[in-house]
Parts: sequence; C-alpha cells; structure tokens
Amino acid sequence: MSRTPHKVVLDTDPGIDDALAILLALASPEIVLRALTVTGGNCPLEDGVRNALNVLALAQAPHVPVHSGVALPLLRPPFTAPETHGDHGLGYATLPAAPFGSADEHAVDAIIREIMAAPGEIVLVAVGPLTNVALAIRREPRIVQAVRDVIFMGGAFRVEGNTTPLAEFNVYVDPHAAQIVLQSGMPLTIIPWDITREVRLTQAHVDRLLRQGGPLVQFIADATRFYIEFHLNHFGYAGCSINDPAALALVFMPELAQTEEVFVAVDVMSDLSMGKTVGDFQRITTHTPNARVVTAFDSERFVELFVERMERLSRLLPLA
Ligand code: BDR
Ligand code: CA
Repeated sequence: MSRTPHKVVLDTDPGIDDALAILLALASPEIVLRALTVTGGNCPLEDGVRNALNVLALAQAPHVPVHSGVALPLLRPPFTAPETHGDHGLGYATLPAAPFGSADEHAVDAIIREIMAAPGEIVLVAVGPLTNVALAIRREPRIVQAVRDVIFMGGAFRVEGNTTPLAEFNVYVDPHAAQIVLQSGMPLTIIPWDITREVRLTQAHVDRLLRQGGPLVQFIADATRFYIEFHLNHFGYAGCSINDPAALALVFMPELAQTEEVFVAVDVMSDLSMGKTVGDFQRITTHTPNARVVTAFDSERFVELFVERMERLSRLLPLA
C-alpha cells in the first residue's frame, strides 16, 4: 500500500457491532485510528467507555485514546438497547479489564482538536447517536469545513425501522442531534439500515474464525452469539447485521457502495414517527441534497474482507 493511511476518528457507542468496527479499524493498514470518542447509546456511557477500553486491550492497542463524551441525548430521554447488545453492551462476552484508562479530554473537544489540527484530513466515522458530533459542531462550527468526510451509520429510508416501525436506532436515540448534523453542511455519507441489515455475519463465518483459536476470535464468537440470537428472535433471519464495520470500511473501500445525493431530514415533531429519516430520492422538493446516501453495497465482498481481517488480526496476537 503506497498511499498515506486515512486518519479516522471513530465516534461510537460500543455495542457489539461497534466493537467489531473498532477491531476492523485496528486490522486495516489503510487506517490510522486517531481516537475513539464515546457517546451513550447502545449502553450507558460508562459501559461504552469501559467496553471501548477493554476491546482495545484485547487487540493490544493501548495507543488509541478513548475519550468519554456526552451521556444523554440533547432533548430526548435516554434510550439504550440491552435486548440487542446485552446488559453490558457486548453480548455474552466478558473481557478482562483494560490496564489503562480513558483520556482526560472530553470527546467533543477531542473531535474538534483532531479535525482542526489536520484540516481536510480527518474522516469522522460516526456509528452511534450523533450527540457528540452535533455538540462539536455547535462548539466549533469551523469543523464543518475542516473535516474531510463524515460517514454515518444510521437512518431507515425505504424499509421499516429497527427501533420503532419507522425509525432506526442511532437516529431515534438523538434525532435532534442528527438534524443538527444534517443541516450543518458537513460532507456527509450515510449508510442506512436499509443497506446494513443485509450485511450479515453468519454462524458459519464465526465457526471459520473460531478455527484460528485465541482470545480475539473467542470474543467475537461470544459477542455475536448473543447478537445472532437477537436477530433471529427479533427479525427472523439467520446471522447478525454488522452495521458499524460496514460504515468503517467505506473509508478505504468506497467502491463497495453506490450512493445517491439526497436531501435528508429527520422527524423530530411527532411521537409516531420520531427519528424517521426522510430522503427526497425522487427530487420532489427543491431542497439541495445534504448527504450521499448508500443505495447499494457489495455485502458479500465486504463480509469476506471482514472475516479475513479478523483472521489476520487474530494471528498477530498471542494465543493466550
Ligand atoms: C445501529 O444501532 C446500534 O444498535 C448498532 O450499534 C448500530 O450502530 C444499527 O441501527
Ligand atoms: Ca453503534
């Protein structure tokens, strides 16, 4: 690989598929993971921070700073997802406590510092509710021009939601934050639930990983066993949707996706459709597009790449 690696800040609410996104970032030579910034979402903030640290320790990546961020959505009450990610956020997995802690700097400040220190270079990958990102925009509006790209996993456009009949989790939890990001003018790519629900890691993939042996693949197996059970019980399909790693992969393999320039807005007014993302795919309104929305994705190629990279990362780590 000849070109300079992409500098990534990953804003996350770990979360099983968030943990897999962290591992994919660490396993990808095309990426330098500058920081993990954590928000409340799948689990309460303190659980998310602990999970981020423990996953980094598992992958022997103590050099990546973890910044604790905003615990609660801007206006809505907190909303977590223990049925999806387990009581502590990582399914059936229990990880040893990391021998290092989180950084002193707040996640919002870290996002701003990273972006402003390298204008045009940082890709912000946001795979949780957008609370930290929205507050970073409000605190330092110049990040809107200075960020290279924002890749967000969230929204449900032309499929049912995964959290309400209409809304996807990350947007539902903090729809006001999502609306701030959408109205900010940031360069924004959205990979929605429409796409990621089809990006499935199956038990056969996990069994293939388990043949490697070692704590990393055991973690993936323990975490995804819970996640696979949830998807079967809740959505009725085999395997689990690995939403957040798919978003991360777009940093270095944009060719996996086809996108459309679309005007996107979020309903923040109605109880029934709170957090519903509306996309003007047919250009019915005169609103200028504010996002590139992924409309097709090569799931098969991505999942194979994901499994290969987990195999490779596992081989680099000691077996016990
Ligand atoms: C999104 O919600 C969370 O449960 C997942 O981590 C992912 O970011 C999918 O809707
Ligand atoms: Ca997430």
